[in-house]
Amino acid sequence: MNADAFPGGDTGARPRHFLELAELDTATLRGILELAAAFKRGARPPPVLAGRTLAMLFEHPSTRTRVSFEVAMRQLGGHCTVLSGHELQLGRGESIADTARVLSRYVDAIMLRTDRVAKLEEMAEHATVPVINGLTAASHPCQLMADVLTFEERRGPIEGQVIAWCGDGNNVARTWVQAAVRFGFCLRLASPEGCEVPGYLLDWARREGGDVTAVRDPAEAVRGARAVVTDCWVSMGDDPARKARAALAPYAVTAALMEQAAADALFMHCLPAHRGEEVEAAVIDGPQSVVFEEAGNRLHAQKGILAWALS
Ligand code: CP
Ligand code: NVA
Repeated sequence: MNADAFPGGDTGARPRHFLELAELDTATLRGILELAAAFKRGARPPPVLAGRTLAMLFEHPSTRTRVSFEVAMRQLGGHCTVLSGHELQLGRGESIADTARVLSRYVDAIMLRTDRVAKLEEMAEHATVPVINGLTAASHPCQLMADVLTFEERRGPIEGQVIAWCGDGNNVARTWVQAAVRFGFCLRLASPEGCEVPGYLLDWARREGGDVTAVRDPAEAVRGARAVVTDCWVSMGDDPARKARAALAPYAVTAALMEQAAADALFMHCLPAHRGEEVEAAVIDGPQSVVFEEAGNRLHAQKGILAWALS
C-alpha cells in the first residue's frame, strides 16, 4: 500500500485504533459486525462503556457520524465530548501530536474527522488511547461497517456478491475497495476520467486477491449487481470548481440504470445526498433504496466499533 493512504500499520503495542479496514483482518471486522448486530438485537444495550468518554474532533461538518457516536456512547453508559478544530488550540497552531498526548490523559478514545490522512496518522501515533477514523479525504471506514451490516440484513452474506459503484472515486468509494477485499465480494467501479479511485488501491486489492474492477461504462458496472452505490460528486474539502460535473453526469444513478442491475438490487448512499445530481429522486426515494437503513445502522455499527476498541 501507499504509505500516505493507510496510516499506521504496526499494531504491535498500539491501542486498538480503527483507522482503515485494510489494516484489520476479516475476523476482526466480522467480530465488530457481530457485536453491532448483537447490540441492535438487544432491547436495552448493556452499559459496557460505563464511565468511559469519547472525544470527537471534527474539522468538517457531520450529522450522522456525530449523532450516532454520541448516542451510541450514551446508550452504552459512556459520555462524549464534541470538539471542533477551530475551537481548540489546534486552530492556533498546537500540534496534533500534543493534542493527542493531552486528550489521551482525559478520555478513553478519540474520533477524528479531518481532511488529511497525515493528521489521522499523527493522532494515532501519539495517542495512548484508541483513535477512530471518522472520515478523511481518503476513507470512511465507519460508514462501510454500517453499509455491510445493511446489505447483509437485506440480502444475506455479502461474500461473493456483485456490488457496483457509480460516480466519483472518492473516500467512500475507496473504502468500498477495502471492504471488497476484507469481506470477499466483487466490486465494480465506474467513474469518469480523472475521478477514478487511485491505481495504488486497485493494485493493493489485486495483491490481496480481491475481485475489484474499474470500468468506464456505468451500465457495465451495474450489470447483475445486487447493490448500486454512489455518493456526492463534491466531497468535503474538494474544490467544486475542479470537479467535472459534466463528466460525472452520465454516472448518475437513474431508474434506467437501476433496471440494468439485478432485479432485487438495493440502492445505497452514505448521505448526505443531492437529488438530481448523483442520484435521481425516484431512485433514492423509491422501493430499492436502503439509505435510511444505512444511516440508522451507523448507530449500531458505532457501538460495535467502540466496544471492540475499548474492550
Ligand atoms: N455519512 C456520513 O458520514 O454522514 P455525516 O457527514 O453526516 O456524518
Ligand atoms: N464523500 C463525502 C462523504 C460524506 C459522508 C464527503 O467526504 O464529503
